Amino acid sequence: MPYAHITGWGMAVPEQILTNDDLSKMVDTNDEWIRDRTGIRERRIVRENESTATLALGASLKALKVANLRPTDLDLIICSSSSPEYIFPATACLVQDQIGATKAGAFDLLAACSGFIYATNMAAQAIRSGSIKNALVIGSETLSRFVNWKDRNTCILFGDGAGAFILQASERPGGVYSAVMHSDGSGGDLLTLQGGGSKHPATEATIHQGKHFIEMDGKEVFRFATRVMAQATREALDAAGISLEEVDWIVPHQANIRIIEAAARGLKMPMDKFVVNLERYGNTSTASIPIAAVEAVEKGDIKSGDKLVMVGFGAGLTWGALTAEWTGPFPSKGHVHPEQYLIFGRVRSFVRRAIRFIEGIIFRREL
Ligand code: UT7
Repeated sequence: MPYAHITGWGMAVPEQILTNDDLSKMVDTNDEWIRDRTGIRERRIVRENESTATLALGASLKALKVANLRPTDLDLIICSSSSPEYIFPATACLVQDQIGATKAGAFDLLAACSGFIYATNMAAQAIRSGSIKNALVIGSETLSRFVNWKDRNTCILFGDGAGAFILQASERPGGVYSAVMHSDGSGGDLLTLQGGGSKHPATEATIHQGKHFIEMDGKEVFRFATRVMAQATREALDAAGISLEEVDWIVPHQANIRIIEAAARGLKMPMDKFVVNLERYGNTSTASIPIAAVEAVEKGDIKSGDKLVMVGFGAGLTWGALTAEWTGPFPSKGHVHPEQYLIFGRVRSFVRRAIRFIEGIIFRREL
């Protein structure tokens, strides 16, 4: 049975920074409260010309470059997001088109902040079953587009960004070893974005009622998170037969430093084993785990051969954890320049649209 190795990684965050002081001019809050209660100092916010798909594309191109993998070699693209470009088509398909991943299947996955764990597990399972060889897994969010900038309970928390992994098959042991995924829909009302779905399609009334904004019972989500982080980590480690002592890094969902500290206490692990970067990005939901992992790899903290656990929780409620041994790129010849595939992707997309247009005229005549 092949193993699913993580051979490429990339991240993309908007340039625009929103600091706690900036927020204090918008709502009744202050830098000290936000830092004490969350650990966040600043977050990145998209500009008008940026979106979930542009961030996803940026992270994906970097991941392909690290893996030295041509987009045309991808079999599967999964984009995890709670703030997709559209309800449909899937953001994954937009990325597929732009990078010219001609033979990849593509779909979006929604498991809120646990989404990247779910998506990586799905891709790893497809590789381990032997049905595919190469997958691109993306976590991308622009939650700033759904935040009520007058609600101090939520607007201080979230930021925008994307991270991506390339997963590849190899007979050599390593890569993703195990994962656990959990849900409890009875807590669905604790963290919601109700507007725009089939129950509350956009109307003047839903906009007036603020249904297109994130609503959260922060205290309850906090309580739930502190309960499940350590528990899911232990479960995933048990499933992989790895002991806590063997773990080099825990990459937790970056929601609140106090939640991460509670997980460290629960696992009796020192905080320096936890990858933390939420002070600079806030909570980027499904993108937070890959962004934290990418930064830790680029800093030289996570190295080839390291054993790590990624663990997250979020709306749904959902939670999960995944264990992996970090691999790094497979040895390969030549250099792939994925940006060149953008040009190829654009030309291909244009030609396909043109063919569809011409076929449409012919088909109409035949009728
Ligand atoms: O990815 C999953 C997404 N969600 C989360 O992870 C959120 C989990 N929850 C949390 O991180 C925390 O519950 C929050 C950071 C959201 C809130 O922290 P807290 O320690 O639970 O604060 P609280 O809601 O109990 O509020 C304490 C006080 C209240 O004032 P009173 O009633 O004690 O007078 C709030 O009104 O702090 C007040 N408060 C604020 N003050 C200044 C709430 N938000 C703010 C604020 N600035 N932004």
